[in-house]
Amino acid sequence: MVKNSGDKIRVGVLVSGSGTNLQSIIDRSASGELAADVVCVISNKADAFGLVRAAKHGIAHLHLDHRSFSGRQEYDRALVEALKSFNVDLVVLAGFMRIVTPVLLEAFPNRVMNIHPALLPSFPGLDAQKQAIEYGAKLSGCTVHFVDSGTDTGPIILQTAVPVLEDDTEKTLSERIHVEEHRLYPAAIQLFAEGRLTVEGRKVRIS
Ligand code: GAR
Repeated sequence: MVKNSGDKIRVGVLVSGSGTNLQSIIDRSASGELAADVVCVISNKADAFGLVRAAKHGIAHLHLDHRSFSGRQEYDRALVEALKSFNVDLVVLAGFMRIVTPVLLEAFPNRVMNIHPALLPSFPGLDAQKQAIEYGAKLSGCTVHFVDSGTDTGPIILQTAVPVLEDDTEKTLSERIHVEEHRLYPAAIQLFAEGRLTVEGRKVRIS
């Protein structure tokens, strides 16, 4: 059972790049559509525009350079320390291009979400849009899932399909998937905030 805090939940968002998903979460939180406050944004990349977005909204933000740590677990220990210091209820990976370890997952059991730009279990890993085009898939989309120790293998919360058009490039398909991501991620976070998600093995039940 995924517990919720009853009122607004406290969300920590991890990014590596542009942060358009972060922006959609911030915007829906500001408009009151989402019962969640983004309380910190952490990036492994110094130049991630997600950090600028956080700054613009007066949200605590921090660059934690993975290259300053001796390994993934050491890095994740630093992430856990930072996230715990902000008392987060939910960790949201939004274009965070790093594999996370059990150090993070055990600190936040069933409380780490990710968004992936494909209909999992198809096209996990890097360059999912390119994979879908090269495979000749007619449908792709996006998936929000709880993170487990595999790569994009955790229990699926919500998915949306997006058609792959004949003349799609990686860029055009990514843009159309992004539009859906910006709706899907806040919807999944809202379900979590309302305490409506229960993880049973591979299945996420929505009450
Ligand atoms: C999103 O499309 C997200 O699905 C993808 O990175 C993009 C980040 O965009 N994540 C992955 O590929 C993770 N495997 P954003 O920085 O504009 O939110």
